[in-house]
Parts: sequence; structure tokens; C-alpha cells
Amino acid sequence: MCGIVGIVGTRSVALRLADALRRLEYRGYDSAGVATIHNGRLERRRAEGKLFNLEKALENEPLAGTIGIAHTRWATHGVPNVANAHPHFVDGVAVVHNGIIENFSELKDELLMDGAVFKSQTDTEVVAHLLARYIREGLNHRAAMLAMLNRISGAYALVVMFKEMPGTIMAARFGPPLAIGHGDGEMFLGSDAIALSSFTNEITYLLDGDCAIVTHGGAEIIDYRGLPLTRARQVSLATAYRVEKGNHRHFMEKEIYEQPEIISHALGHLIDFAQNTVKFRSDAIDFGAVSSLAISACGSAYLSGLVGKYWFERYARLPVEIDVASEFRYREVPLLPSQAALFISQSGETADTLASLRYCKDQGLPIGAIVNVPESTIARESDVVFPISAGPEVGVASTKAFTCQLAVLAALSIGAGRSRGTLSSEQEKVMVRHLAEMPRVMSEVLNTLQPQIEALSRHLSHSKDVLYLGRGTSFPLALEGALKLKEISYIHAEGYAAGELKHGPIALIDENMPVIVIAPHDRFFEKTVSNMQEVAARGGKIIFITDEKGAAASKLPTMATIALPNVDEIIAPMIFSLPIQLLAYQTAVFMGTDVDQPRNLAKSVTVE
Ligand code: AGP
Repeated sequence: MCGIVGIVGTRSVALRLADALRRLEYRGYDSAGVATIHNGRLERRRAEGKLFNLEKALENEPLAGTIGIAHTRWATHGVPNVANAHPHFVDGVAVVHNGIIENFSELKDELLMDGAVFKSQTDTEVVAHLLARYIREGLNHRAAMLAMLNRISGAYALVVMFKEMPGTIMAARFGPPLAIGHGDGEMFLGSDAIALSSFTNEITYLLDGDCAIVTHGGAEIIDYRGLPLTRARQVSLATAYRVEKGNHRHFMEKEIYEQPEIISHALGHLIDFAQNTVKFRSDAIDFGAVSSLAISACGSAYLSGLVGKYWFERYARLPVEIDVASEFRYREVPLLPSQAALFISQSGETADTLASLRYCKDQGLPIGAIVNVPESTIARESDVVFPISAGPEVGVASTKAFTCQLAVLAALSIGAGRSRGTLSSEQEKVMVRHLAEMPRVMSEVLNTLQPQIEALSRHLSHSKDVLYLGRGTSFPLALEGALKLKEISYIHAEGYAAGELKHGPIALIDENMPVIVIAPHDRFFEKTVSNMQEVAARGGKIIFITDEKGAAASKLPTMATIALPNVDEIIAPMIFSLPIQLLAYQTAVFMGTDVDQPRNLAKSVTVE
């Protein structure tokens, strides 16, 4: 994840900014930079690799100035090198950015037509060129900022300096977090309270759609129309190295809401957002040559793998054998060296998953691992590692790790499809563009669902049993929804393939058991609606999680319908994970359980 820091100061800022970046190292990065304004000049130092290199550059060529911005970059658009490192400069404008500008290609083409000269491969540089153009056209800096914000789309935290305004930093947030720090005569900006913890503990968190104009005297917050907004100022308990809840009640809530930011970093290793292609090439596992894939994991990691099975089989025509690791490790599965094995684990330490990995390794299979801890045991014993880069997941219930595992599996299945000739280059580009939409769509969903979720969760908190139904990739989501609810609210819940309803579970249907049906308007929609009719005919109470198209198409009476944006099927599982996570979270809050540390559970099950 990229890290951002800014200071509107009263004394030299360059070294303070570099030091603050250190508190963001936990986010992961591959280059860094600092820019300041001094004597009417914008100056910067940038370096590839670790912060030590940037500190060396600042030592060799100190940067003066009492106002500045700094950035640690997690490469999404363009390789990790100095030219692509932030801050980006264009005609007196300096920009640092975290996230993805989805429409950067069309904006770049438009700017190139205007004669803009690009010096990097990044989407961020488009923002700097847009601002410079608006200023050339005569807009003042505030108007230029708002004009730019109304042109770009995607998920972003942006911090901007203008050479002509040596006492002001402007910022905007839609998706990735951004906080303002209130100092004594100085003001600060940072990706989170941890970055600001050595400057101040008085924090204002920006919300999606906020634009801030920060000067020594304070911060003015406006919306993209320029209308004033009021945001709470609170005391943060963040210390330098503790992962903090931010302005959330639990780590689980924080981790649900940081998914728009995190998901683009999970893709960062595998997707070239500039070319809209899957860029990984692993000689350890040649998806073009393997005869089939064995996948094994536990809990939510297993369920993400189950979604992956549908994708590998559909898009890459690659047969997948999947099982929970506690069974797989003892089944003595007959395996061939022509196969490959994939293990999914947030912690990278789950005993059953590690045992299954070792079984496959003994059979001579190439081993891949999708993990959140690259130095974990499972990662170390694999031939190739696909990190999900979700950052520390503190809540025992998996949320951001689950959707990041899905994002990596989606990219791998597209890459496998290309290697096996079952997906064309054009299909790849279309699917990757859909993956790039996720941060924005996730932000939109998370910004709108809360009121409906709250009402439904209050109802669910009085239930004794809940049934989740889904078809296709929504079937593993039904299982995941049931797992989320039971593990943190302690309410009994079961997930079922919707088509299995009449083979037994329909006997359970009555007016007391909510039935949560997960069904985007995809090729299974009509069949799932007929399952819903079976439920409704028996007095069952349906909570329908669908999309706008599905909500319009179904005339069935439901207890509630959650209509998500219409999205492509390759990202539907990630988007539809959000309401099932929020339903479980909010229900547990009403139940008063220990949401982050549910009874009997551990974050990593390192024993059998
Ligand atoms: C999911 O919410 C649970 N916390 C649990 O099922 C978890 O997914 C499982 O224990 C696997 O853990 P791992 O991903 O660290 O291997």
C-alpha cells in the first residue's frame, strides 16, 4: 500500500517527512520521495528501494523548505524506479497519490493531444498535468483542484502542492484513507494516524468525496462542488508501530472498510494496469503446461479457493481438485508430477494447510502459495509465492484477506487462460479493466450499505438459525457468509448450493429462519429466483443480495433486497463479499460478542 505524508510547517520539513514515512513501512513499498517548496521553488528527492536510499539522497543533497509532501510507492502503473516514484511534478504542481485513477488512459490521451510531455508511466502524473492545464487556462488553485477531482474516476488519496502557494497543501480522498493532523501552528496530512503519531494525536479523518485545503491555521474541508463540510476532530491513540483501529470500533470494521485501498495492492504484483494485462510469469508453475491443479486451504481461505476453482475451470479450462486441508492431507490423493498445487493461507502458518503442501511436495508437484505473510512457513516451502499484500489482518474473521485472495485468484485464472490459449488478448484486457474498477466500486458500496445493513442486522441478531444460498461463484460466498456470521455472532448459519435446497434443506424453511440469497444477475439468476419462489411459497423470509438488474427483474416478495451495482462476473464475488461481511459484523455488534477475538477462535491455527 502506498504511504502519504504532508506538513505545512514552521521549520524544516524534509527529514521529518522522511522519518514519518518510516512509520508507514508496514504498508510495503518499492520507492519513495519527498518534495518541498523553498524560495518559490519546488524541489524533490526520490529513490528506488528502501527508505535508506531516500535518506541518503537527502543527506547528500539536503532539501530546505517548511512545507512539503512525501510518499512511499507500491507500484501499480509502471515499474518501481525513480522516474515513476512520487512526488510527480508538472509546471509548478507536485502530486503524491495512493490508489488507482481508472480513467487515466483516456485522460492521458487527451493531455498528449494537448502537447503534454509525460515523464513517467504512472496514472498519478495525469493528475499533475490536469492541474497544470487548468491553472494555465486561468482557474485559481482551488478551482483547478475541484475541476480535476470532477474529471478523474477511481479510488485515490491525493495530496497536492502548488509552487505559487507555499503555505497551502490540498488533498482529496475517495477510497484509500487520508487523515489531517492538527499541530501547534503546523498542520499535517497522512495515510493514517500512525504516520502522524510523532507530530500530533489530534486527527481529522477525511471521508470519501472530501477535499481539504490545509494551511498553518487549520484545514478547510469542502465537497467536490466546493460546499463546506464539517468533519470530527478526535484524539488518536495510535503509536508509532501499533496497527491502529483508526476511527473504527473494531479491527474487523477497519479491515472491511480498507478493502478499496488494499485490493489494488493485492493486484499490484500481477496486473499491469497500464497495459491491462496479467504480468506475472512464473517458471515454477507453468499454467500452460500443467494437466490440473490441486488447491487446498482452511476456512475462508478454502472458500476463496473454491471460487478460484470456478474461474480456473471456466476461463482456463484447467481441472481443479480442491479440498479442505484437514481432509486433503490424509486422503492420500493420487497425484501426478504433471499437476501443480496451490495453497491459500492468510497467516501462512496453518498446520493442516502446511501438511497438505508437504504431501504434494513429496509427490513432486510444483507448489504455489497465496499468502499475506511472504516470510511465513508456507511461503518459504513453496516454489512460487503470490502475496496478497493486504497488510496486517488483526480481526480473527477474515475480510480483506478473503477479497485479496479472490483478487489474486482472478488474476491467476486470467493469466492461466492466456497461457492455455483459452482467453484472447482482448478478453484479458476487458477482464483486467474490470479488476481495476474494484477499488471505486467497493468504495461506492461501502459508502451506501450501512443504513440497510444496520436494520437487517438488528433483525438477524434475534435469529437462531440462518440459511445462505448461492449458485456458481455465489455458492462459496454463501458458505463464507455463513462462516462469517457463525464465527463472530455465534448464531448457527449454514451455506448451501441453491440447487440443493429441494434435496433436504427446504425442510427447514419457516417464517423464523431468514434465508439470505446471494444472486447477481448472471447466468444462474433465473434458476436462483425459482429457488427463492420455493422458499417464499413456504413462508420463508428472504434477504435478497443482488444487483440493480436483479432487483428490477425479480418480483418476488422479500424481507429486504440489497441491490449492489451491476458488475462483471469476474469481480462479483469480491463486491458481493462486502454485504455478507457487513451483515456478520453488524449482527455481532448487536449481539455484543467480542468481534475481533471471538470465543474459541485463533487468528492462525498452527496445530491440528
Ligand atoms: C475465517 O474468517 C477464519 N478466521 C478462518 O476460517 C481462517 O480463514 C482459517 O483458519 C485459515 O487461516 P489462514 O488463511 O491463515 O490459513
